[in-house]
Amino acid sequence: MKESNTILDVSVVLPTYNEAENIPVIVPHICETLSRAGLRGEVIIVDDNSPDKTAEIAKALVGKYPVQVLVRTGERGLATAVMAGFDISKAKACLVMDADGSHPVEKLPDMIRPLLHDRADITVGSRNIKGGSADKWPWHRRLISKTAAKMSFGLTRMTDPTSGFMGIQRHLLNGLELNPIGYKIVLEIVVKSAPERLVEIPITFRDRELGESKMSLKEQWKYIRHLKRLYLYKFPTIWELIRFSLVGLSGVFVDMAIVIGLKELFQLDTRLCAVFGFLVAVMTNYLLNRYWTFQQGRNMPFLKSCIMFVSVCCIGLMVRLLVMHLFIEYARLDTGNWYMLTNFIGIMVATAVNFSGSKYFAFSPERLAFQPKGSSQAQTRR
Ligand code: GDD
Ligand code: MN
Repeated sequence: MKESNTILDVSVVLPTYNEAENIPVIVPHICETLSRAGLRGEVIIVDDNSPDKTAEIAKALVGKYPVQVLVRTGERGLATAVMAGFDISKAKACLVMDADGSHPVEKLPDMIRPLLHDRADITVGSRNIKGGSADKWPWHRRLISKTAAKMSFGLTRMTDPTSGFMGIQRHLLNGLELNPIGYKIVLEIVVKSAPERLVEIPITFRDRELGESKMSLKEQWKYIRHLKRLYLYKFPTIWELIRFSLVGLSGVFVDMAIVIGLKELFQLDTRLCAVFGFLVAVMTNYLLNRYWTFQQGRNMPFLKSCIMFVSVCCIGLMVRLLVMHLFIEYARLDTGNWYMLTNFIGIMVATAVNFSGSKYFAFSPERLAFQPKGSSQAQTRR
């Protein structure tokens, strides 16, 4: 607690799980590198109660080096461990790196200085830019790493989206709602903070010499769940549109089933069957959208939002017919098989109308002015 009145430049957070052999090597290396570069820093070790007694070995370094040790007993996970480390930092910049020597300690000054000089909000160590590289992994790990990186396209333009080596100006962490699962704390922070100035630093990623990797099938599954969460976070509307379209598709089958059922059972007029098919499908669509598509759907006043939904669908149908009419009258798109294209365009237009109408009217909390049951929760999400 000596440093409480002098602000540190950087906290280097080392998440550890069974790194007893690596800690005594990397901590002195980090501290020497920082002080040689004229940086005032500390190391924060966040250990999840490793059975190999990493924490005890780390604690033995306290006093000899500027080290804090945080031991978590109730929780495990790389990403949340890093968050816990950032939480107790009071430095101007925070950094995270692997404790096993995979990330080059010599690059610390390059990672930290752009943050301190306010030339970068975030710095990320990258294997994939000029000057960066990686030890040759066995082919299956290379494949996994490549696939994992590709799967995050759309979330970030980082050249090395699975990197675990990152620095950030600490104030940018304030108020960030982080909610990671598994390993990828860097991706989580980059996506949620959307930094204007992300600077990539080329690094050589070395395979660990001591101890073993904790990357496992379970972690890879967690990564997929994490990605889903991040895509949902970044593109909530696209997600809703996908669900809405699936619901619409299900409606076609419901409609068809009702028509077939009524026709076979009661030999009703096909047009009358279609009316019932439409009514039932509109209702199943409404319910699915209410409970599945729109996050706040279930909080809407039922009758009001249902009537609005049905009205929106009717407007959608009218717009569809109007557009089709124009195509047929003015583009003559009714001959041969062109009618299919005309109908397809009609369906797309109707989907667009129905979706916007549902999102901004039938399922819009603002429009229907309801008092959500979990209102505080509902507001913090925005
Ligand atoms: N506290 C804590 N809790 N630390 C953990 C946990 C955990 O559950 N799991 C892993 N760690 C620590 C390790 O002790 C190590 O310091 C660091 O997190 C990275 O773990 P490794 O098990 O060595 O990961 P890796 O080498 O397979 O993966 C590394 O390279 C990947 C590049 O593709 C990491 O840097 C990944 O973040 C990176 O994506
Ligand atoms: Mn490693």
